[in-house]
Amino acid sequence: MKDTDFVRSAYGVWIPKILYGTAWKKDRTAALVQQAITLGFRGIDTAAQPKHYDEPGVGTGVAACLKAGLSRAELYLQTKFTPVNGQDPTRIPYDPKASLAEQVAQSFESSLRNLQTSYLDGLVLHSPLANERDMMEAWRAMEAIFEAGTVKQLGISNCYALEQLERLYRQAGIKPALIQNRFYAETQYDREIRAFCRQHQIVYQSFWTLTANPQVIAHPVLQTLAAKYQRTPAQIFFRYLTQIDIVPLTGTTSEAHMREDLAIFDFELTTGECDAVTTLL
Ligand SMILES: NC(=O)c1ccc[n+]([C@@H]2O[C@H](COP(=O)([O-])OP(=O)(O)OC[C@H]3O[C@@H](n4cnc5c(N)ncnc54)[C@H](OP(=O)(O)O)[C@@H]3O)[C@@H](O)[C@H]2O)c1
Repeated sequence: MKDTDFVRSAYGVWIPKILYGTAWKKDRTAALVQQAITLGFRGIDTAAQPKHYDEPGVGTGVAACLKAGLSRAELYLQTKFTPVNGQDPTRIPYDPKASLAEQVAQSFESSLRNLQTSYLDGLVLHSPLANERDMMEAWRAMEAIFEAGTVKQLGISNCYALEQLERLYRQAGIKPALIQNRFYAETQYDREIRAFCRQHQIVYQSFWTLTANPQVIAHPVLQTLAAKYQRTPAQIFFRYLTQIDIVPLTGTTSEAHMREDLAIFDFELTTGECDAVTTLL
């Protein structure tokens, strides 16, 4: 990826404009992560949530690439702290009876071990907690990790209520620099949240981007742009998102799609074309 294919966050971290997501890959995780990085992905998203992610597998894939000559600094690696209610009770990567603060610390330590790294580029709270007291206890524990220097920035995921994001932003000592949300019609594509992100230099990351939007992908506007640029409609949609400051995640398991997803930076939509896609959302 070229220098222009990265966005600089509020904390000065360079984030690739498309990230490789590692959920649901089970025992193929290491090989797919290695393949994605080898083909050119420079940003990896994972989570300390064995139910959906094989974090040690991600670490194995990353380690293979570092052994082959890539430097850790060239890679953007982010993980998540998943609260107990998002975990498989038989495979929780921390002591569920410990305090929330302790759970966050233990989870992060296990992520560093799994990913075979001394620091991470982002730590994301996988979902808001049931009440504000718990939410802030978890966030303070994440801030302590930031202060210790082992993570460069913090974020939140699955946060769809603007007031909740605003409250977190107000109370946080270390402000959220990232949000990772499902990008779909049901939440009006997070229009208000994204406006808040723009104001406060929070990087908005989208998931479920292709899966949740078949009607957008199939729309004549995208089909026409795909024909014009000789790209697939999925490429047009991903490219559009990067041009409106959204960082999409792709968890593709296909080499052809990996290549296509990386090739979105080889062309650029005009402002008018972006506006035309915006009317579909
Ligand atoms: N924070 C959260 O709660 C949360 C929740 C879900 C996901 N995530 C993150 O987001 C990542 C992505 O997950 P996702 O839900 O967005 O779905 P995804 O795993 O990327 O899957 C999307 C589908 O799109 C296909 N695809 C990918 N690139 C394509 C292309 N260029 N053209 C056509 N089809 C393409 C894939 O099929 P092929 O494999 O055949 O390409 C797959 O069927 C996850 O791995 C995870 O890191 C986070």
